Formats: sequence, C-alpha cells, structure tokens
Amino acid sequence: MKNLFFLFLISLPLFAQDVRQDRHMEAVEAFKNLNFFYKGRGMAVSPDLIRLYDSMSKLGIGTSSNGPLYQRWGFVVQENKVRGLFNEPYEGMQVGVLGCVACHSGKAAGQFIVGIGNKNIDVGQIGSDAALAMGMWGKLPHENPKFKEMHERSLEFTKGLGSSKISNDTQGLVATSLIRSWFYKIQNIPLPADFKKGQVKVPHLWGYGEKRKTGSFWDGEGNGELGGWAIAVELYAGQTPENVREYYDSVHKAENYLGDFLSPNYPFKIDRVKAEAGNKIFTQSCQGCHGDHQRDFEGHPIFTSPKHIPLKVVKTDSERLDALTDQLYDLIETNPLNNVIQSVRRTEHGYVAPKLWGIWARFPYLHNASVPTVYDLLSSPELRPKKFSLRSAGERERFDEEKLGLTKVSTFDIISRRTYDTTRAGHSNQGHYYESFKTLTHENKIEIIEYLKTL
Ligand code: HEC
Ligand code: HEC
Repeated sequence: MKNLFFLFLISLPLFAQDVRQDRHMEAVEAFKNLNFFYKGRGMAVSPDLIRLYDSMSKLGIGTSSNGPLYQRWGFVVQENKVRGLFNEPYEGMQVGVLGCVACHSGKAAGQFIVGIGNKNIDVGQIGSDAALAMGMWGKLPHENPKFKEMHERSLEFTKGLGSSKISNDTQGLVATSLIRSWFYKIQNIPLPADFKKGQVKVPHLWGYGEKRKTGSFWDGEGNGELGGWAIAVELYAGQTPENVREYYDSVHKAENYLGDFLSPNYPFKIDRVKAEAGNKIFTQSCQGCHGDHQRDFEGHPIFTSPKHIPLKVVKTDSERLDALTDQLYDLIETNPLNNVIQSVRRTEHGYVAPKLWGIWARFPYLHNASVPTVYDLLSSPELRPKKFSLRSAGERERFDEEKLGLTKVSTFDIISRRTYDTTRAGHSNQGHYYESFKTLTHENKIEIIEYLKTL
C-alpha cells in the first residue's frame, strides 16, 4: 500500500506536465532556426556580403529602433540581431540566407511572437536595396570560383523581389505574384500583361494543422494536405525542383510541427463582464462563419478547420482572387513538382473565415491588412480609416487596447511605403460588413472586442 502511494506521488508531476505547452516551445525553437538553404540555393544574398552586415551589427550600426533594418526593411531586430537572417557556410564562403521567421514572426504590443505575420516586413524594399548593394559588391574582386554563379542567381532573386511590377507597394504586405511568377518561369511562359500582384499580409500559423484541411493561404486554394506550397518561396528564389525532392521530407516535417503552435494570450486586462456579453453577440452574429472557439481541460485552444466563404458574401478586396486565372491553374497542374504542389480549384472563389485565436495580435485586419482595428472592422466601411501609418506597428505605443489594433497617429509619415493607403490597387478596405453589424451600438462593439481578447 505504501509503495502504491509512493508510486502515485512520483507520477503526479507527469500528469501535471503540460504536453501541448512543451510541444509548442519545441516547435517555436525549431521554426526560429528554419531555412531551406540547400546545395548553394535558396533565399540567399550574394556570398560573403553577410560579413559586412555582421561587422556592422556588432558595432550596432543600423540595428537601432530607428535604424534602416527595422524602419526601412521591417526586420525584427533583437539584441543587435535580425530575426530570420542566417549566416550559412558554403564552399568556403559565408552566405546570408532568409528564413521563414523573417516573415512569420513579429511583434504585437511590444511582444515578440513566433508564428505571427511580421507587420512591417518589406521584401520589395529589401530586394531593391540588396540588388543595388550587390551590384557594387559583384564588381569587387572575388577569388572563390563559385562566387560568380551564386552571385548572379541571388542578384536575379533580389532584383525580382524589388521589381515594382510584381513586388509589394506597402510594408507588411507580400505580393503573391512572386510565387505565381515561378509557375510561368519554370514552364517558359511569359507573364500575362495584367498580372495581378495579389498582395496579402503574412498569416498567423497557429492552428495550421487543422487550417490546412480547408486549404492553404487566405483563399484556401492551396492543397494543404501536401507540403509543397511551403517551399514555393524557395523555388521562386532559385531552388531547383530536383533539390526540393531531396529535402521534401524535412519540409513536410516542418509543416507538421506548425500544428503544435499555440496562440499568444492577451497580455493586458480584460473586462470579464463585457467579454461575457460579447460572447453572446459573437454566437449570434459571427459564429456562423467563424465557428466556435473551445478550450481543452488545460485551457489551450481546440483548433478546428475554418470555413471558406464566397467573395460575393464577404465582399472584401478581390485582387488576391482575380489572380486565380484558368491559365494559372493549368500551370499549377503541369508544374514539375505537381505531386506535392496542387490547388484545390474551387468552383467559387472566396476567402477563408479564419479562426480568431490570438486575433488581438493579428492587426491590421483582413487578408490585405486594410483595417487597422477590430472596432473599424465592425463599423461601416465608409467610416474606416482611408490611410494609416505602419510606423513601429508592433510596438507597445502603437497598440490600441480599446479598439484592438493600431493606434491612430496624427503625424504624417514621410515614408510612403510605411503608410497604408486604401486607394492603392488590392488595398481596398471594403466588405465584411453584414446586416447584423448595422445595429451594433458602440457598447456592443466594445463587448465583442473584450470577448475577442479572451481568444
Ligand atoms: C517573404 C515572406 C515569407 C517567407 C520568407 C515565408 N513565408 Fe510563408 N507565407 C507568406 C505569405 C505572404 C503567406 C500567405 C500567402 C497567401 O495567402 O497567398 C504565407 C503562407 C504560408 C503558409 C500557409 C498558411 C495558411 O494559413 O494557409 C505556410 C504553411 C507557410 N507560409 C510556411 C512557410 C515556411 C515553412 C517558410 C520557410 C521555408 C515560409 N513560409 C517563408 C510569407 C512568407
Ligand atoms: C458571412 C461570414 C462572416 C461573418 C458573419 C463574420 N465574418 Fe469575420 N470574416 C469572414 C471572412 C471570410 C474573413 C476573411 C476576409 C478577408 O480576409 O478578406 C473574416 C475576417 C475577420 C477578421 C479578420 C481576421 C484577420 O486575420 O485579419 C476578424 C477580426 C473578424 N472576421 C471578426 C468577425 C466578427 C467579430 C464577426 C461578428 C461580429 C464576424 N467576423 C462575422 C467571414 C465572416
């Protein structure tokens, strides 16, 4: 009997162990270091250029909160280091490589969160500045015989990123045209004259294990059961389909652990009475599309697959969907990796109504980041801000606890790419305004916001 009791005692910590929290921590650590640089190819800049950055950052040059790494390129900089920028050795050279977390991590209300979209990342600006620097770098003498080939490939990659025809116009948006252009290039088909940029914000990744069953991406058009789409950026950057086949298993593994991410809890005070009232409104007005949000016995979210909502119902900006032409679908069907990169090819286009876990951190809202706060999203489109500044969007001082999202700043932003302007193509802030929203009072909106903070 005594023995049994002793056994019971020592096994208590085992039961108390928070398995999902542990798996989350492991997944975050692995993802932080993830990049798919392989056989000299991937999202790489010119060889040895990274040495320059290394010595600058050691001296703290450019890495301050007002420095260009953060303000101009939108990288998250911590302890003088850029998140998601790696220094990979290759054939006696050092290669600067972009990893997933350059885009798939960022700050909200001053907190660093892995698995959130980077609100300021500006690959267009990074590309054009890097191409300029690399042009000069390439003119200097380089002894390594492998230099030239790699240099030229990364020059093409960065020039493409920076090309105003297919790159983003605003910080925090990534042009999906970059990825789509690969399907044309690899099959030697010229880009159509009216090639749409389809700019979107970088999506959150928690819950992806279930989300992928509905379909990958904002439009749910990628077949998410296969892992191929996750390396589409690498292909665009000059990786070969043959190499991808060799490391495909590790991509699949990486995608699986994204399913272990947990959403970040709201870090400030929540008014529980209002949240309860908000919960009731949510059940009536929102749940039909967004579903319910249940927690397990440890208090962690139970992730479920989201619904896909036709454009004619949600009526948000259509550019991301206008890009889905029959020609594109044909090219996806015949692409050299078509066993792992496939589309769902729905008859009716639309957007996924995402699960709202951790929504407090995911502003600006909608797939194109066109609405700065939840309060604005619940208000008539005519009342939503037409322009807003993205300066330091993830910092504490830009966080609006009341309206949930970005604070308004009165000062004019001198950098146009850091200003979100809803008159730009693909930047419209219309839609997602339903009959049931029209009767919401100010107090109701505040209650819904308090409820959303609990997710
Ligand atoms: C240049 C920024 C950028 C980088 C780097 C990047 N991604 Fe993404 N990722 C995006 C954007 C933007 C989307 C949404 C595209 C869309 O909806 O059309 C996305 C979507 C995804 C999705 C689908 C999410 C969903 O909700 O359907 C997965 C999974 C993903 N990325 C994984 C990765 C992995 C793994 C890496 C590293 C190999 C990576 N990404 C690197 C920008 C990036
Ligand atoms: C008819 C279906 C529908 C209803 C009803 C609906 N939504 Fe949505 N919601 C969507 C879709 C679809 C999207 C994605 C649209 C897009 O990105 O363009 C979305 C997006 C959102 C987003 C932005 C998510 C992000 O990651 O940026 C929030 C916040 C949101 N909804 C909250 C609500 C709330 C709160 C209610 C109820 C008051 C509600 N929605 C009612 C379909 C709906």
